[in-house]
Amino acid sequence: MPEMRRIPLSDLRPGMIFDKSLFDSNYNIILPARKPLDRATIGMLYNRGITEVSTAGELVEVVDESKIHPKKHPTQTETDAQKKVIIDKDAAKHIEFYKNAVTKINNLYQRYKKGESLDINQLQQLAHEFVNTIMAEKKVEVWINLINAAGRGDYLSLHIINTTILALLLGKKLGYSAVKLINLTMAALLFDIGMLKIPAYIVEKEEKLTPEEFNQIKTHPIHSYQIIARELSLPVEIARVGLEHHERFDGTGYPRHLKGQEISEMSRIMAIVDTYEALTKKRSYREKKESYDAMRLILGEGSRKFDPEILKVFLSLMSVYPVGSYVQLNNKCIARVVASDSVSPFRPTVKIVRDEFGDTVEDGEIIRLAKETDLYIVKVVYSSEIQSENNASLS
Ligand SMILES: [Fe+2]
Repeated sequence: MPEMRRIPLSDLRPGMIFDKSLFDSNYNIILPARKPLDRATIGMLYNRGITEVSTAGELVEVVDESKIHPKKHPTQTETDAQKKVIIDKDAAKHIEFYKNAVTKINNLYQRYKKGESLDINQLQQLAHEFVNTIMAEKKVEVWINLINAAGRGDYLSLHIINTTILALLLGKKLGYSAVKLINLTMAALLFDIGMLKIPAYIVEKEEKLTPEEFNQIKTHPIHSYQIIARELSLPVEIARVGLEHHERFDGTGYPRHLKGQEISEMSRIMAIVDTYEALTKKRSYREKKESYDAMRLILGEGSRKFDPEILKVFLSLMSVYPVGSYVQLNNKCIARVVASDSVSPFRPTVKIVRDEFGDTVEDGEIIRLAKETDLYIVKVVYSSEIQSENNASLS
């Protein structure tokens, strides 16, 4: 056994790195080799009444303390654990609401497809539930996390519920009144209903659509308008969203090639959220895009196609790095974006999932990059890369 050297606790400083592990008197590892010592660990040793540690190694480096992410203090961890229980309860409530909404919309649409009329009372009740639930939850990221999670259900129902949530979050940020939010929700629940009039073989086709088939798809906004305005006799403000959600700000959309303000505001909202949501989901004919790529596409080449003012609000809601995406920080840690920052879209709040040595971190530190100015995002890491690395380490 290599000779162990004793180091008095009073000699330890945050940032110290040893080339062999540090142990307490019972040979429990206090600090693994080549990991920087942090203030919280030293504090924990004092709290445990430990006066010295031992190691077979040498002090090899002292790094700047500000570059280390301290481990949480035990009392803080306790508070976090308590908080987590409350958050988990809320999360369970939100998941339940989301699942119910998907089931309800699926049932309503299936019955309509079979020839029954749409139950307008049930739709209105669902719209009220949406507005109440989303207005009551202050944390936007809760909903964005739900949208990003792979939900079960058919594509159209999930797409409708996800776009409804995004539209509502956007409407709320734009300062819409409760009445306007209800109308926006009704519009979001119904804007794509015209798709039910398109033959299933076209909607579900795995190969590229022929021009003829694409022309058929392009008629769905007209069907949506007719159903909303004529069959359901809902206000024209709602029906216009069905008709205009594929119109584009630069006039390149369909069916009427409207431009700018000719397109209703609610339709301009729906154009953004519908595009974003569709891009981030896998379809039979294309792979899903990472939320970062979807944002990049909408902000980049697509920016002429959407209302720039609404797009700005959407960006502040989602951030350049949307909730759920993975990023690498300048200190080499990999982190998951857990909340956006409306003032600094490039500096969201992140949670460390891998440390600077590439090791997976359980319950990693949460960092507000807007406050931690030493740290910044250097690149996006795709979830597939994280997944394949995890698989490789398991094999
Ligand atoms: Fe559509």
